[in-house]
Amino acid sequence: MVGDSEPKAGYLLAIEHELARDERPRQPAFDFIDLFAGIGGLRRGFEAQNGRCVFTSEIDTHACKTYKTNFPDAEEIHGDITLVKPASIPDHDVLLGGFPCQPFSLAGVSKKNSLGRAHGFLDETQGTLFFNIVSILKAKQPRAFLLENVKNLRSHDGGRTYEVIMGALRELGYHVFDKVIDSSAWVPQRRQRVFIVGFRDDVTFDFDRLARPKIAPTLADILHRSDEAPEEPYTVLSRGKTVVSDRYTLSDHLWQYLQVYATKHREKGNGFGCSVFTGDDVARTLSARYHKDGSEILIAQRGKNPRRLTPRECARLMGFDDPPRLKDMEIPVSDTQAYRQFGNSVVVPVVEAIARKMIARLLRPREFPSVLGEAQQELVLSTAAVA
Ligand SMILES: C[S@@+](CC[C@H](N)C(=O)[O-])C[C@H]1O[C@@H](n2cnc3c(N)ncnc32)[C@H](O)[C@@H]1O
Repeated sequence: MVGDSEPKAGYLLAIEHELARDERPRQPAFDFIDLFAGIGGLRRGFEAQNGRCVFTSEIDTHACKTYKTNFPDAEEIHGDITLVKPASIPDHDVLLGGFPCQPFSLAGVSKKNSLGRAHGFLDETQGTLFFNIVSILKAKQPRAFLLENVKNLRSHDGGRTYEVIMGALRELGYHVFDKVIDSSAWVPQRRQRVFIVGFRDDVTFDFDRLARPKIAPTLADILHRSDEAPEEPYTVLSRGKTVVSDRYTLSDHLWQYLQVYATKHREKGNGFGCSVFTGDDVARTLSARYHKDGSEILIAQRGKNPRRLTPRECARLMGFDDPPRLKDMEIPVSDTQAYRQFGNSVVVPVVEAIARKMIARLLRPREFPSVLGEAQQELVLSTAAVA
C-alpha cells in the first residue's frame, strides 16, 4: 500500500486494533512536535500511540511547570513560538497545535493587492500565531498535523478566519479534514471543539468512526468518592470517610449573588447563569475562567451550598486522570492556575481516539515490525497485499 493507494478498511482496523492493544515497550513509531503545548493534553494522546515528542513550545510559565512535572523526561520547553526559527525545529512526522484564535487583518492583504501582487490564503495569515504553524508546516513538511480549537473558530469574524485557515492549509498541499467533536461520549462534559487533521498523502479520514466507550460516563464517574484515598488540599478524612474540603463550598455571599445573577440572566433570555449538577448529570464546558466563580459547573451538596469541582476532579473531567487505571496527573500549581490550565486543555481520550486513527493512516508495512507482534504482522501484511 505504500504511498498513494487507498488501503482496505480491514487493514486500517487491524493496525488500529493492534496499536490499542499492544502494551509492550517498543521503539517510537513516529516523531511529533507539541506547539501551544499547555499542559500536554495532545502529547498524552500521541504518546499513547507510541509517538515520541521531539520539540515543545509553551509561553506560560505556570503551564510549563505542570508540563515538566508530568513529563519529567521531556526535552527543553521552548517559549514564545514567534521567536523560534522553523528551520531549527527537529524533523517530525506529526505537528500538534491547539493555537489561540486570532482575527486575520485585512491590512496586509490590501497593501499587497495595491502592489499588484497575487495573494492567497497563506499571505493572509501573517502576524498571527497560526502563521507560525503555517511557517513550520512549510519548512518541515511533516506527514500529518492535528490542530484543535474552540467550536466558534468556525464562525469567528463571520466565518472568514476559518476560511483563511482551511485555505492556507490546502495551499500548503495538505489533504484536510475537520469536525466539531463533543467530548461527552468519553468524559461527563459537553465540550465541543473543532479538530482539523491534515495529511500530506492523499488519504481519506473519517472522524465519524472514532472508537468510543460503550457507555457514556456521568459526573459520578469523576467526583471524589468517600472510599478513595484523601489528597490534600482537595479532600480530607472525616469520620473515616474521604470528603471534599470545605474550601470548595461556595460562601453564602457568592451563592446568593450567583442565584440573583442567574435569575436576571434567565429573565433576559440569556440562557444559563450558573448550573448545579448531581452525579447523574453531564457537565457543561469547563472554561479557563472557572477559577473566577465556578458558576458553569457547581456540584449539589446535601445540607450545604453547592461546591466547585476540585482541580483533581477537573483532571478527571478532562480525561487526564483515569480513575480505574489510577494514572494520576500531578498538579503542582495553585488552584487558580490549575483551573485555567485544565479549562484551556483538550479531552485526552478524544485526542487518543483521533491519534489512533491518524497513526494507522501514517504507518506503512516496513514500519510494522516496531509496533506489531509477528502474528499481527502476517495478518496485516497479507491484508495489505490484497488491498
Ligand atoms: C488553548 S491553549 C492549548 C492547550 C493545550 N492543547 C493543552 O493540552 O493543554 C493555548 C496555549 O498556547 C500558549 N501560547 C500562547 N501564545 C504563545 C506563544 N506565542 N508561544 C508559545 N505558546 C503560546 C498559551 O499559553 C496556552 O497555553
